[in-house]
Amino acid sequence: MYERMARPLSIRLWPRVSLGLNTGPEASAGTGLQETVSMGERKRRIGMGLVGPGFVAAHHLDAVRRLGDVDVIAIAGSSQAATDRKAADLHVDKAYGSYQDLIDNPDIEVVHNTTPNYLHLDVSMAAIKAGKHVISDKPLAMTYAECSMLRDAAQAAGVVNVVTFNYRGNPLVQHARRMAAENDIGQLFFLHGRYLQDWMADDHVYSWRLDKKKGGSSSALADIGSHWCDLAQHISGLKIVAVLAEMTTVVKTRYAPAVPREAFSGKDGKVMDPVEIGSEDLASVLLRFNSGATGCLSVGQITPGHKNDLEIELNGRTGSLRWNQENQNELWIGRYDRPNSVMARDPSQLPDGARRYAQLPAGHNEGWSDAFRNVIDDAYSWIRAEGDTDARPATICTFADACQICAVVEAMLLSHQAGGVWQMVVDEASPSLKIRSTVPENGLLSEYVATKAGS
Ligand SMILES: NC(=O)c1ccc[n+]([C@@H]2O[C@H](COP(=O)([O-])OP(=O)(O)OC[C@H]3O[C@@H](n4cnc5c(N)ncnc54)[C@H](O)[C@@H]3O)[C@@H](O)[C@H]2O)c1
Repeated sequence: MYERMARPLSIRLWPRVSLGLNTGPEASAGTGLQETVSMGERKRRIGMGLVGPGFVAAHHLDAVRRLGDVDVIAIAGSSQAATDRKAADLHVDKAYGSYQDLIDNPDIEVVHNTTPNYLHLDVSMAAIKAGKHVISDKPLAMTYAECSMLRDAAQAAGVVNVVTFNYRGNPLVQHARRMAAENDIGQLFFLHGRYLQDWMADDHVYSWRLDKKKGGSSSALADIGSHWCDLAQHISGLKIVAVLAEMTTVVKTRYAPAVPREAFSGKDGKVMDPVEIGSEDLASVLLRFNSGATGCLSVGQITPGHKNDLEIELNGRTGSLRWNQENQNELWIGRYDRPNSVMARDPSQLPDGARRYAQLPAGHNEGWSDAFRNVIDDAYSWIRAEGDTDARPATICTFADACQICAVVEAMLLSHQAGGVWQMVVDEASPSLKIRSTVPENGLLSEYVATKAGS
């Protein structure tokens, strides 16, 4: 359907400023920890445009504006009239009723894609075809097949490609990652946590996310479980290679407004129609990592009292780490042979690789949008480096990385559909990933377990 781009990957470098550069052998895996800072160089300005001006779009624009060296050229929405209104609200000079018109604007070098999931493929592919760099919000696309088309097209076109798994941009996440990489808590054997929200607890809340044609086959797992999986892999340096999932739809009938609303906008008293829901709002998943470590994850969007409760804990042989997004200025460090401690986000106590992600002094709490800004900052730094692999900041999730996360979510769907059996994660770009023990390379883990039990 989409032809590959002929343009080869350019490696011409722009002056690097404030980059967390991956210069070591781990760079291509995005796990390098080195940092190079050169002061006083003037950065060239970059023009960006955004397609899909809804909830998260405002945070993309806020982030690029805080950088100070990126110009917001235009936004494109679902119609000219709606986008004109949005442009006024968001203080953007130019509004397009068609994303292709935005992509065709020669002043726009980078396209941010914050459309509903079903438009991710078309919008990102059109931008790639036009030779624009793409910063897409997650998920990369609706299915693994779509994701791999985008991964291959972006690689062939040589454009910078980024998916905003924004929790990577938190300074204490970076510190936890460094501690894991430096064996500070010993060999990891258990990674567990949750991502629970309650914004869909009310059956009168409806989102395109719950329509399989617009959101995809999975709701909670693809929408927020994907964040947790990316974070677990990012902090630990491990990969999820097998899953066993149980998915539930707790709220089976919802009441949707005749006119669609943006995410998190709640009830507004208008007439609502009943809609039967087919995708999950709750899931429990067992995990296996490529090192042999195990894990478990709870995901829900209907759990009262849990607002944006992403929590991850890593247990190593000599220590544990726990980080909670709602209390993100603290990192719990557990020990069995000395007192536990809680580390505050204090730039003066953070090592180099994590310190540059802390924008404020200790006690001046940072939050979700600060971490988001950090990821966008790194994305533009990498764009200035023209996507040079060695210059890729570790917070960057590429289309290839996001493809693998999609493969993890699809494995969860397959596991559930098969009745709750172990399912291997199959990602063609990382075929060498295996469970360390003698589990077969492909096929169902449960079959292997059954075979072993019977043999
Ligand atoms: N990284 C995060 O933490 C995070 C948070 C929220 C959403 N997201 C992702 O961002 C994307 C958008 O989510 P949202 O919550 O902002 O949704 P939203 O519904 O609030 O916004 C989507 C916007 O896209 C517009 N749109 C619809 N059709 C369009 C078209 N043909 N052309 C251009 N624009 C069109 C809509 O009018 C709306 O303004 C989703 O993929 C979601 O998964 C990520």
